[in-house]
Amino acid sequence: MRYSACLLALLPFALSSPIQQSLDFSSLAPRADPSLTGYLGVFFLGDAPSVYFYLSNGNNAASLTSLNKNQPVINPTKGSKGVRDPSIIPGGGADAGNKWYIIGTDLNIAKTNWDAAQRTGSRGIFVWESSDLVSWTGERLVQVEEATAGMVWAPAAIWDAEKGQYLVHWASKFFAASDTQHKGSPSPTRIRYAHTKDFKTFSAPQDYINKSPTEIIDLDIFQLGGNQSYARFMKNETAKTVFTEISTNGLFGTWTRPGGNSAIIASGVEGPAVYWDNQVAGKAHLILDFYEIDGYRPYESTDVKGGRWTASDRGGWPKNLRHGSVMPINATQGSVLSAKWK
Ligand SMILES: *[C@@H]1O[C@H](CO)[C@@H](O)[C@H](O)[C@H]1NC(C)=O
Ligand SMILES: *[C@@H]1O[C@H](CO)[C@@H](O)[C@H](O)[C@H]1NC(C)=O
Ligand SMILES: *[C@@H]1O[C@H](CO)[C@@H](O)[C@H](O)[C@H]1NC(C)=O
Repeated sequence: MRYSACLLALLPFALSSPIQQSLDFSSLAPRADPSLTGYLGVFFLGDAPSVYFYLSNGNNAASLTSLNKNQPVINPTKGSKGVRDPSIIPGGGADAGNKWYIIGTDLNIAKTNWDAAQRTGSRGIFVWESSDLVSWTGERLVQVEEATAGMVWAPAAIWDAEKGQYLVHWASKFFAASDTQHKGSPSPTRIRYAHTKDFKTFSAPQDYINKSPTEIIDLDIFQLGGNQSYARFMKNETAKTVFTEISTNGLFGTWTRPGGNSAIIASGVEGPAVYWDNQVAGKAHLILDFYEIDGYRPYESTDVKGGRWTASDRGGWPKNLRHGSVMPINATQGSVLSAKWK
């Protein structure tokens, strides 16, 4: 950390730009970028396992309109031919600003059941890529897990600047190596990860978050500024709650839970996805999937590190959006998306 906690506490969030430029307060007040004029959301809907796009109404982070007249933008053709939990990943490094990926779970629940889906489910992740946000090509289903894994759920990724690669993570449970049919009792679900440069070749998977005996799924990682501060959000699948943890020393640093070990943000929810507000520095949005009610509902915070979130106005928020992600866009990207699908 560059400044003492005492100095930080004395500084207001909204610094004038000359001070921001000279002192680089990016870790204190992220985003609030005048070039960003809206948001693109990617979701699956209800139990329809395709990728649907939504565009914000103006620069309102909690108000969305369907693109493509409620029809999917991507229909998978491989594996189960169903995709859930789509996550849009901005390119990092040399690909920043000119490449995006959408990755997702290979699962069509209409063709299986929840028990089989976790014993002999897909061990691959769907990948599509784009250089303009409207043309999505290169569909592939890349196996990322070992044969002992029962499934690979809710893949998402973040650019790991220290590694110069994407850190990709997902949830799996595991069966004994001798139990090749996966008929016995599996391990609790835990979060696994691998690194990749291109979403084609992945390093060998390893554990990322193991809170056994708690079952953990649906991780989303959110950079707070600089290279070292992050918030992460995940679902306690045992209790059906979502909670947050903070690291100030990197993606593989020490994570602590604001509010203590039993603090939660909400219950009866899953699929947390987080994004900065484009206009208010230090303000973030968190969407939580009320999967047994009406899907995603928006929350907001000006104290991400403190783990304090409140429900947003959802007058402009559509119903039945399920586990996906939201990304900021600029005016050029907004016009290209509207021109293609509005
Ligand atoms: C939007 O971002 C793209 C890079 O992704 C850039 O080429 C374009 O100039 C930007 N447009 C505006 C209006 O900032
Ligand atoms: C982040 O890490 C990269 C690679 O190590 C480095 O080039 C860059 O200066 C760092 N940025 C900040 C804000 O610390
Ligand atoms: C998950 O929820 C269970 C049931 O309430 C609880 O016992 C457990 O401590 C929780 N795990 C975590 C990591 O919060």
